[in-house]
Amino acid sequence: MKVGRRIINLVITGFSGTGKSLVSKEVARRLDWGLLDTDDEIVEQVGKPIAEVFREDGEGRFRELERETIRKACRRRQTVIAIGGGAIVDPENYELLTRNGLIVCLEAKPETICERLFREVGCSPETEVRPLLATDNPLERIRQLKASRQPYYAKADWTIHTDGLSISEVAEEVIRAWRLLSSASDDTPIVIARHGMPKQSQEYSAPGLPRSARNDTRKTARRDSDKDTACLVETATQSYPIYVGYGLLDKLGEKMKQAALSGTATVISDGNVFSLYGSKVEQVLKDAGFGANSFVVPPGEETKSVDSAVKIYDFLVKHRTERDDVIVALGGGMVGDLAGFAAATFLRGMPWVQVPTSLVGMVDAGIGGKVGVNHPEGKNLIGAFHQPNLVLSDCETLTTLPERELTSGWAEVIKYGLILDKEFFEFLENNVSKLTKLEPHLLTRAIARSAAIKARVVSQDEKERIGKRTILNYGHTIGHGLETATQYRRFLHGEAVAIGMMGAARLSQRLGLLPSEAVERQQALLQRLGLPISLRAETVDRRRGKKGSGRELGLVAITRAMELDKKVKGKAIHWVLLEDIGKAVIRSDVPRGDVLAVLRELTKR
Ligand SMILES: NC(=O)c1ccc[n+]([C@@H]2O[C@H](COP(=O)([O-])OP(=O)(O)OC[C@H]3O[C@@H](n4cnc5c(N)ncnc54)[C@H](O)[C@@H]3O)[C@@H](O)[C@H]2O)c1
Ligand SMILES: [Zn+2]
Repeated sequence: MKVGRRIINLVITGFSGTGKSLVSKEVARRLDWGLLDTDDEIVEQVGKPIAEVFREDGEGRFRELERETIRKACRRRQTVIAIGGGAIVDPENYELLTRNGLIVCLEAKPETICERLFREVGCSPETEVRPLLATDNPLERIRQLKASRQPYYAKADWTIHTDGLSISEVAEEVIRAWRLLSSASDDTPIVIARHGMPKQSQEYSAPGLPRSARNDTRKTARRDSDKDTACLVETATQSYPIYVGYGLLDKLGEKMKQAALSGTATVISDGNVFSLYGSKVEQVLKDAGFGANSFVVPPGEETKSVDSAVKIYDFLVKHRTERDDVIVALGGGMVGDLAGFAAATFLRGMPWVQVPTSLVGMVDAGIGGKVGVNHPEGKNLIGAFHQPNLVLSDCETLTTLPERELTSGWAEVIKYGLILDKEFFEFLENNVSKLTKLEPHLLTRAIARSAAIKARVVSQDEKERIGKRTILNYGHTIGHGLETATQYRRFLHGEAVAIGMMGAARLSQRLGLLPSEAVERQQALLQRLGLPISLRAETVDRRRGKKGSGRELGLVAITRAMELDKKVKGKAIHWVLLEDIGKAVIRSDVPRGDVLAVLRELTKR
């Protein structure tokens, strides 16, 4: 038995009807691991149900596919692998699985299995289900087949008798076994949603379980959502967790170990952030057994340059940093982009961890793996896609973030509600005053939900190739125009985006897509969170605390800047507009006259 060693995967096996698929899903969710169900993989690969593979191609072909899938699965790490009930009988499969994971067998009495199969509870679309039930005496058939497999099931590292247990209880048992037999820590991250949004109201519900068991699961999810909320980014090349919580910095080292990181951590931070959190982070890393070095850069967008990256390389070379070491980006989006760029390029790419400390960093810059530096001729002209190994957002750090930076970050949060999630928008409307006071629980929820929305979009379009990310540009066409026309001096990004979103909403209204009440609701929420809604002098200048005039910014300058935007690439502008709150559409046929009319409205006194 594999006691006390690092267990890289969990393999869940057992007869049909023991709940392998649902339990595996739940365990993966709780451990924040990947999930691979070999039957599902095969179905996806061949494009037909397993019963059909059996019927049309024969069992031999199915076993071949199964072996191939298991071989692939065993190359994974931190994955819960659910295997078909007959897979383990094959000695080659068993060898591979036992070398690459802890094998847990789910057991149940033949009577329980028979009853569950008839109710179709917890059974995967397995090979033997139909033939088993199609006989005169299914119970007897189950007994026989099960008995013939028993010697193989007996080779599992751990067995759980599932009769009378709910899916959630079985999952808990699996995790207990994993803890007992490995050197794993006590803390199991909870993934509230994969590819999706953590919703208080959308907790895991196990179909087919008795009501009491379902209630238990809900209670656990609610309790756990008070701790670290997380979601998972799954791209074609990598999958990594995002943790969002209050006071989470203390757990940074631990989470990094869980993500299989080791060696020396080079913390890259700016002076403002490092003076507040640097020594704490260094200590937490050392406590978890990492070596810790720190490289501190001056705060401000000017630091996001090739020169700074070169200084970081020099530091890494001097400290003999190796490919197995790790870079920790501690700071706002500027630090994240710069440190991530260094991580993407040093030694052709090394592991890195994002620890965003600004609202923009937590809900936007920190998620998606876009890293880069500025060129004197343009922002973010030099960069790469390099996904971090994990993101950890401690919302408590926002208590020291300057007010204006915080306010600017809210624009992106509101944007997520507007483009994709009406319920979230309503949540923001209902909780503005508590959110601006940084009430820990609600703040964590808002950030986790925003991060999950961005993660979901990014998961679908890692490298911005298929245009799915375009929707994130709501408010950004005008926003970027404003930033460029003012040489990035006048507005913080979120402020420009807020005004841009008002432009996009009005444009949507002009084109007959969006009712005026929706425009008003958007405007009211932006204003309540302290964001500007037009270029009118009083709005902008009150916030900046100095005199100036919104009217100085001419329409020509803004439109020219918009049309030169690198995302436009000389073609028609792809406008992200709204059809409703929570429902964005992309239109490239917007008449210039309407755009100018809207811009005129934005600058009108
Ligand atoms: N990679 C992406 O996908 C992406 C997305 C959006 C923005 N960005 C980039 O992010 C950058 C903007 O990020 P930002 O708004 O976080 O700016 P920033 O990193 O410059 O931080 C803003 C200011 O807040 C300070 N600060 C940060 N956290 C703090 C804290 N907890 N307490 C006290 N002070 C704190 C910083 O020192 C800085 O002075 C830009 O460079 C932008 O291009 C990148
Ligand atoms: Zn933005």
